[in-house]
Formats: sequence, structure tokens, C-alpha cells
Amino acid sequence: MQTKTSQVKNLAILISGSGSNMQAIIDAIENGAINAKISVVISSNDIAFGLQRAKNHNIKTHITSLKEFGSAQARDKKILEILKPLNIDYVILAGYLGIITSEFIAQYKDKIINIHPSLLPKFGGSGMHGQNVHKAVIAAGEKVSGATVHLVDDGIDTGRILAQDSLDILPTDTPESLAKRILDNIEHKLLVKTLGEVCR
Ligand code: GRF
Repeated sequence: MQTKTSQVKNLAILISGSGSNMQAIIDAIENGAINAKISVVISSNDIAFGLQRAKNHNIKTHITSLKEFGSAQARDKKILEILKPLNIDYVILAGYLGIITSEFIAQYKDKIINIHPSLLPKFGGSGMHGQNVHKAVIAAGEKVSGATVHLVDDGIDTGRILAQDSLDILPTDTPESLAKRILDNIEHKLLVKTLGEVCR
């Protein structure tokens, strides 16, 4: 009986910074853990190191910075034009700081996946990105923190949760040390595991 090998999924990855989550996806595709290929990487930041990471793997890149387009709507219109001919199955927000407009979400309903460095619904929402998240978690006296992979809906960090993982906060943790431990020990593994399942 012919086993049905699932079609390789086409991913678009949106970044704004270092791109370490994107790097984890690149590595997982190369070692066969994710049945996908990265059709394009789009950065909101023209000096994101993630652009170099993508180029190292001959992945096509685009830069769509807000200052160039003036509004989130105009920027997303450009991103949608870039994506349209690529038959994208999933759009991955990997450390992406741009606003995703409702027009974008409507075009890729339940196909936009974000990773957020806290245990949503706690410490999500407007302004909760990067170090702000970990500062708030420590200030609140939390004992555990972690990361969440979720679908993007019209809210901020409110879409259906696909996966979460957590770690204990150490008494010596600072926002920086907590951010690094979550990024290195939780985010990369959680995103790869979840995308491996989604793209199977
Ligand atoms: C990190 O703060 C991470 O927690 C969040 O985006 C930031 C940068 O990640 N998801 P990356 O190294 O650019 O993937």
C-alpha cells in the first residue's frame, strides 16, 4: 500500500532580531525534524542578524521596515504581495516585533504561528515583548516561567495555544538571565517540536 508522504510545507518566517528561533527551524529542517522548507524570510529590521543567518543558508530575504512603508497596513500589503506567489502553508513569527494587521490575519487564518516567551495568557499583550516580559515575571514574584507557541488571531498574544513548556525561576535570575535560559532551553525546542507536529 502506497504510504502517503505528506507534502513538504512552505514556510515564511518573519523576524526582527537575532533570528535564533529561525536558526532552530533551519537546523531542524536540515536534520529532518520538520517536514518543510523555508520559502522566504522577511525582516522588519534592516540590520537584523537573522538576515545573515538566512543568507548563510541561501534563503531569500526581504526587508519591510515600518519607516519605509509608514503604516502597518501598507507594510502588510507588501508582505502579502511577497507571499502570494509562494503558496505559503504557515507564516512563523520568530522574534517578530511588527504588528500583524487584520487584513494579514484574514489571508492566513489559523496559519500564522507565534512564539512568545511567557506562559500565556500570563504576561502577554501590548508592550509584552523581549525583556519587558521577563522583568514583569520577576517583578510579580513568579516561581516558573517559559514559552508559548500559539496561533495568531486579532488580539495580541491571544490566539489558540498550540504548546507550552516551563522552567523554574532561580532566586539569582535577572530578566537577562531568565530570557537567555528560556530562549536557549525552552523556545527553540518548543518551536521545533510544535512545527514538527504541524508540518507532519
Ligand atoms: C526573544 O526575546 C524571544 O524570546 C522572542 O523573540 C526574541 C528574539 O528571538 N521570541 P530570536 O533570537 O530573534 O529568534
